[in-house]
Amino acid sequence: MPAKPAVLVTRKLPEAVTKRAAESYEACLNEADKSFTMDQILAQAEGCDAILCCSSEKFTAEVISRLPKSVRALATFSVGLEHIDLDAAKARGLTVTNTPDVLTDSTADITFLLLLAAARRAYEGERLLRQDAWTGWTPTQLLGVHVSGKRLGILGMGRIGRAVARRARGFDMAIHYHNRSRLPAELEKGAIYHETPDDLLKVSQFLALNAPASPETMGFLNAARIALLPDGAVVVNTARGTLVDDEALQAALSSGKLAAAGLDVFDGEPKIHPGYRALDNVFILPHLGSATLETRNAMGFKCCDNLDAIFAGREPPDRVV
Ligand code: DGY
Repeated sequence: MPAKPAVLVTRKLPEAVTKRAAESYEACLNEADKSFTMDQILAQAEGCDAILCCSSEKFTAEVISRLPKSVRALATFSVGLEHIDLDAAKARGLTVTNTPDVLTDSTADITFLLLLAAARRAYEGERLLRQDAWTGWTPTQLLGVHVSGKRLGILGMGRIGRAVARRARGFDMAIHYHNRSRLPAELEKGAIYHETPDDLLKVSQFLALNAPASPETMGFLNAARIALLPDGAVVVNTARGTLVDDEALQAALSSGKLAAAGLDVFDGEPKIHPGYRALDNVFILPHLGSATLETRNAMGFKCCDNLDAIFAGREPPDRVV
């Protein structure tokens, strides 16, 4: 029997995915789920044919230049790709694959969880109960922002943005969006297109950031753009932390310009800007967008499908490079 291909799996994966990887490959697993430095990952990759990696590991041009010669593919357990220098990967002849589609619904669900929790002051309400500080129902206690029927602006109308729009229609929200290009009518489904992000911001009583991290979206939501939002708007980010200028957002939450924010992603994760901890009107989660067992299994199986194709000399279904 030919030797199985060797795959370095950088983090602990759900059981069913680990089982498949261990059966299909000579898998170097990380069952203790240690967070390795890139130097340690490079050392462990010696002799491996591929690396099944995660978005927390930065494959910069420098790291890619030091990859062992044996490594010919990176299968990232993520849809996001900003942690891999794709030009350097291409120049090195690496195949890179990701996991599109399968995390669309779970990420859109978390977008709505944040939107509702931020607007309806879920953190403050929960804290009252946990601290045994609730003295009873009153007509004016923790009044939040009404969601149903409001205008939702979506920045980035890709798969996840459109799944957010589907959910918002259930809340009778009017959908507005900006995207690099206007969608065809069958995908737009009545959503109103804005040529520029600034035009979108002006009408967004709620704003959902669903655009990928890129040089163009870096620091997108800065003080000048926040000023364009209607007073009392609610901002939700499940895309990447780099889209937001943290200090500008915190200033707007403190001043009351924005009513609330819901954030699942942060610049510099897992460290978050400490200012968020002091604000009651921000609902924060630790990057849980795709964190359901079904989704994480599907992401892992996609990585394996891509690796299987690469090792069999077939075109991987989710090739990026
Ligand atoms: C993704 O798949 O990009 C998720 O955000 C996890 O990194």
